[in-house]
Amino acid sequence: MADLRQCLRTARNRFPSKMLFKHRRLISLMAVFVITAVGCFHFADYISVSFKAIRHTNLFLQTHKPIAIHRNPKGKNESIACVVENSLGDSCSGIGFASLVLQTIDDITTCLAQGFVPTVIWTDCDYCGPPGNGLNYWTWYFEGRNEGIVQQAKTRVCMGPSRIPEGHPSVYLTQTGAKGELVDFRFADMKSKVTEYFQPITAETRALVNHVISGYLKPAARVRNVVDSFYQSDMADSINIGVHVRLEAGHAEEMTLYHQTPPKLQDFVQVVQRLTDDITAKHVGKEIRIFLASDLDEVIEEFKSKFGGKRVLHIDALRGETMVITRFLEQRNSGQLMGDQVFSDILLMSKCDHFVHHESNVASVVYYFNPNLQSHYVSGDASVFRRLNAQPRFDSEELFRQAVAREMRNMALPDWQDWPLWDRFKFWVKTQKFLLFDQVNFGRQLKCFYKNIKWSTCRNEFLRSQFASNSDIQKLMSR
Ligand SMILES: *[C@@H]1O[C@H](CO)[C@@H](O)[C@H](O)[C@H]1NC(C)=O
Repeated sequence: MADLRQCLRTARNRFPSKMLFKHRRLISLMAVFVITAVGCFHFADYISVSFKAIRHTNLFLQTHKPIAIHRNPKGKNESIACVVENSLGDSCSGIGFASLVLQTIDDITTCLAQGFVPTVIWTDCDYCGPPGNGLNYWTWYFEGRNEGIVQQAKTRVCMGPSRIPEGHPSVYLTQTGAKGELVDFRFADMKSKVTEYFQPITAETRALVNHVISGYLKPAARVRNVVDSFYQSDMADSINIGVHVRLEAGHAEEMTLYHQTPPKLQDFVQVVQRLTDDITAKHVGKEIRIFLASDLDEVIEEFKSKFGGKRVLHIDALRGETMVITRFLEQRNSGQLMGDQVFSDILLMSKCDHFVHHESNVASVVYYFNPNLQSHYVSGDASVFRRLNAQPRFDSEELFRQAVAREMRNMALPDWQDWPLWDRFKFWVKTQKFLLFDQVNFGRQLKCFYKNIKWSTCRNEFLRSQFASNSDIQKLMSR
């Protein structure tokens, strides 16, 4: 005790090396104990998360995509409401704004192909504000459609997050041998290069997506005003080239993962240079503007020095480290602010005449928003250019009819519970493997799903794991 008192008294003046030396055994013992305890705690946490994840995957696996059917005794409308709630889980795993939008489009199209009335609710997402009862951040960005249908309809179907890791095919998947949902589709055609590849985007994909966009993704007046005034003051009288450049390391890694070569800044500069030369030759005396959306300030500097500060336009946005820091600090409304910036970039690029870009979901959304925008995929050759800028072989009504036929066929596929035991086992193992190696994303996604279902308009069904099977949905479709 005296030792301790002396120690406390002297501690302010000098480092208590003598005391440390004297009690070295006790201290090492304590250190070992603390390290073990922390280790055990982590291990226990890991085990408990794993168990939870396994339990949740089993719930997930009951259907390829969690879908619940809610009967509403107060409802009078005979239409079936289809509530797209893709922000329940995925958005927590850090997916981009454009990816969230593409998933939403995929789901809206599925609802339409099933003959239901779609309405979108984004409750909690990286680009949403704090979640709460009745809050819908979709309408922060887009005009709401069929919002009343949730209360009016006798029956509603609620869609949860996307299919994991594979299962019910997307209504956009048309090529045999290819895989993926709309959010995975690529500008590049990897068919002859790798065995497993995502479907390449075609003029038909574009026409059908654009058809859905015209009906269901009208930008909110707030966003439209900002974009229109920027366009009117800086872009209305010129030929405009939209340029989207993503060069941060994460993007390069992703490209390598899909066996694609990440482009360099000079690739973008070269394509833009060629384009401006062409335009200057064809349209003598016409002004050219380059609207640039990039994740790095350096890119803007390079473009300005190459093409002149007056020609290069961009909105004020968070880029590079500032963006990472803002995200990290999770400043109030920073999610909505970031969503607004990405969305404004998307809309302004889509208002251009030419579009220089690489592989990215932001680029896909831009490409889909304006079917007359000419795509210049920087890693593409003449055949890629032709595919991406072709006229669709069918009009949007025929494309939608084909989508309905595909959805009917997809619905006829057996549910997971009906698979042969061996196939079920293989699928289970595959999912567990996915879970183990991609635990960060997948675990987080599952956690978010179970945290957020309380905001779902089918929360009780979700909480009781009352997921609809294909045949349940088929019954609703054939009413
Ligand atoms: C049911 O709701 C849909 C979508 O809002 C609407 O178009 C339709 O007119 C409604 N039907 C009735 C009978 O109110």
